[in-house]
Amino acid sequence: PVILSQTKFIHQDSLKFPLEERALQFGDGIYEVIRIYSGTYYLFDEHIDRLYRSAEAIKIKLLYPKEELKQLLLELLKRNEVTEDGKLYMQVSRGSAPRDHVFPKDVDPNIYAYIGSQPRNLENLKNGVAVITQPDIRWQNCYIKSLNLLPNVMAKQEAYEHGCYEAILHRDGLVTECSSSNVYFVKDGKIYTHPATRNILHGCVRMAIERFARDLHIPFIEEAFMLEEIEEADEIFLSSSTSEVTPIITVDGKQISDGKPGAITRKLQAAYEKDAA
Ligand code: PDD
Repeated sequence: PVILSQTKFIHQDSLKFPLEERALQFGDGIYEVIRIYSGTYYLFDEHIDRLYRSAEAIKIKLLYPKEELKQLLLELLKRNEVTEDGKLYMQVSRGSAPRDHVFPKDVDPNIYAYIGSQPRNLENLKNGVAVITQPDIRWQNCYIKSLNLLPNVMAKQEAYEHGCYEAILHRDGLVTECSSSNVYFVKDGKIYTHPATRNILHGCVRMAIERFARDLHIPFIEEAFMLEEIEEADEIFLSSSTSEVTPIITVDGKQISDGKPGAITRKLQAAYEKDAA
């Protein structure tokens, strides 16, 4: 496999990380995961725009303008002859320099991108998943897609150890999102989700869902659900580039509604499939 490193295409085995690389020592960088369907990036512009927003938020100046990066990523698909489903992982670190918390001067950011396999999880999409709830112990800038994922990793592991797929996070009694996805509640025919503030990642699939809801005339209300309201939801689902629109059927072992994916969730899944095709 060929990967993109800075502005060059190299074999993945030739990528070497310096000892003092800020992504490794400080998690000082940002990333994106872009879904690929039939060899095409899905929600490409949304992801690229978010990458530049994240970079700006942590004062990293990317090596190339958006259009050039997009061309390089399209070239990466070609060089790997990608025609199937998959995903792109891309990260940008502040760079490599002698270890110091202060930003290094005159150092280029380190960028790499590679394509991996990502089969659709048809089982989860069809039957739904179980989740747990966990306190959201992350920082105040969750809109930045930062490489610092320790709280997310801890929450996801806790879910895994409970035999669950995800953890719904809550802050001050309000549901924010999940460890690596956004979350939505359906009540009386309306979709509720946390507003796109600094406390959640502004998901690209979330943006698409807002658009689908508008097209389907389903109210999309940006209002956080309360932790204690969860059990009263008619439907719950989560979204991300890897999970698409996945129904949630139990929370902390308690069944939601009749324990089956709901009608609005199904409509959004159908809209997603059509949009991604
Ligand atoms: N995660 N919230 C968090 C905390 C996330 O990490 C993600 C994505 C999302 C959904 O964003 P999007 O719809 O743009 O994929 C929400 C990626 C897939 C990951 O870390 O692997």
